[in-house]
Amino acid sequence: MRVAVMASGRGSNFDALHRSSLDPVNPAEIVVVVSDQPGAPVLEKARRFTVPVEVIDPGTRRGAWSQAGVGAALDALRRHRVEAICLAGFMRVLPSEIVGAFPNAILNIHPSLLPAFPGLRAQRQALRAGVKVTGCTVHLVDEGVDTGPILVQRTVPVEPGDTEDTLANRILEQEHRAYPEALRALAEGRVTVEGTSVTLAPTLT
Ligand code: GRF
Repeated sequence: MRVAVMASGRGSNFDALHRSSLDPVNPAEIVVVVSDQPGAPVLEKARRFTVPVEVIDPGTRRGAWSQAGVGAALDALRRHRVEAICLAGFMRVLPSEIVGAFPNAILNIHPSLLPAFPGLRAQRQALRAGVKVTGCTVHLVDEGVDTGPILVQRTVPVEPGDTEDTLANRILEQEHRAYPEALRALAEGRVTVEGTSVTLAPTLT
C-alpha cells in the first residue's frame, strides 16, 4: 500500500512509520512526505531516508484551504499514486475534497485517549483535568477535528510532578508503537469499519 505521510513539524512519527515500513513483510510503503512547512524538520528526515518530499502551499495561513492549495495537494498525492495517508502532526484540518478522495484510508494520531481532549495541547488538557491515565489514539479521519472511528489506543499513566513535556514524551513512546501497528493493519486489509466502530482482525504472522 502506497502511503503519504503529511506532517508540519518534527517528524518522529514519520520516523517510526518509515522504520516499520522497511520490514519486508509490511505491505505499507511510505512513498512521499507532504508538508505545508518548507522548513519542517520532517523534510530533512525524509531526505535522509531518500523518501521523496512535496511542499504544498494551502494558500491561507489558517483554516480554510484555497482551491489552488487543494488542487496542489491532490495533484501531489496522485503523482505519487498514494493509496492511504497518515497525518503525523499535520497542523491543518484536511479539506473535504481530500477526505472524500481517500475513503477510510486517512489515519491521524492524537496524543490523548479520544474522545477526551481533542484539539491543541492535549497533554496540557489532560494535566489540567487531573486524569490519572491518558495516552494516544490512532483514528480514521473524517471531516471533524480529531473525530472519526478509532483503530488503536495505548495508555500511559500521568505521574505526580509531570509537566507537559514529560507527559508528552511518555505518550510519544506509545505513539511510535500504535501508529505503525494501525497502519500495518490497514495495509494488510485487517481493518473493518462499521459506523463508528472499527474491528482489527488479528495479524497473519
Ligand atoms: C504528536 O504528538 C502527534 O500525536 C500529534 O502531533 C505530534 C507530532 O509529533 N498529532 P511528530 O512530529 O511526529 O514528532
